[in-house]
Amino acid sequence: MVRFSRVALAYPDQRGRPGPAILRDLSFTLGEGSFTWILGPSGAGKTSVLRLMQAALRPSGGEVELLGVLLSRARRRDLPPLRRRIGTVHQEFRLLSHLSAWDNVALPLRLGGVPESTIRADVADLLEWIGLTGKEERRPAELSGGEQQRLVIARAVVTRPALLVADEPTSDLDARQARRTLALLAEMNRQGTTVVVATHSDDLPGRHPARMLTLEGGRLVADE
Ligand SMILES: Nc1ncnc2c1ncn2[C@@H]1O[C@H](COP(=O)(O)OP(=O)(O)OP(=O)(O)O)[C@@H](O)[C@H]1O
Ligand SMILES: [Mg+2]
Repeated sequence: MVRFSRVALAYPDQRGRPGPAILRDLSFTLGEGSFTWILGPSGAGKTSVLRLMQAALRPSGGEVELLGVLLSRARRRDLPPLRRRIGTVHQEFRLLSHLSAWDNVALPLRLGGVPESTIRADVADLLEWIGLTGKEERRPAELSGGEQQRLVIARAVVTRPALLVADEPTSDLDARQARRTLALLAEMNRQGTTVVVATHSDDLPGRHPARMLTLEGGRLVADE
């Protein structure tokens, strides 16, 4: 499902030349249907690993294979269809502020050309599942932080992606909202979605024990 093989990553510097290596010699495989925590201190490279898993970046060295696609061999036009099969939750909320809660969740389906009648049923189900029934017409600014984060997750899973990659999905939430968000991710995983979650929180993995890959300075220092 996800395979990293001796992956290295360097971001280009301001002149467009390769900067220092941010990720080094990273190898691991995540099986279909697995749940994985990506842990490590700030700056360890968690977001960079996740951006590779979202096909938002290509590695500078080594190989990344996502859903059977090798990033090094993928043509530019192969990437958007690959990205559509991957649900992404960014470290910062990226809801569209001028769209209602309903329209934010419906957007990926509309972009995919799904018929409006299917969209109506799917979005209603999902909004009920995340506890936002009755708040469909609100803009993101009229929702709490926890509600916004659940909306981001709903938008990431509305297309039923095979792989869900979430970067610090609970970082700005209080303990109760964080538990609720984690429960949504765990439920997606129970239904068969492969889930990867990055966090620098130490107590979150204790609430949902799963494989933990720990990064430090761009290297894998523990796999337990
Ligand atoms: N676009 C970029 N250009 C250059 N360097 C970057 C870029 N993005 C991240 N970095 C550097 O790469 C390293 C890893 O950053 P990354 O965002 O992956 O860490 P992180 O583990 O997600 O940290 P945090 O817990 O703070 O989110 C850091 O040293 C950071 O400064
Ligand atoms: Mg990060």
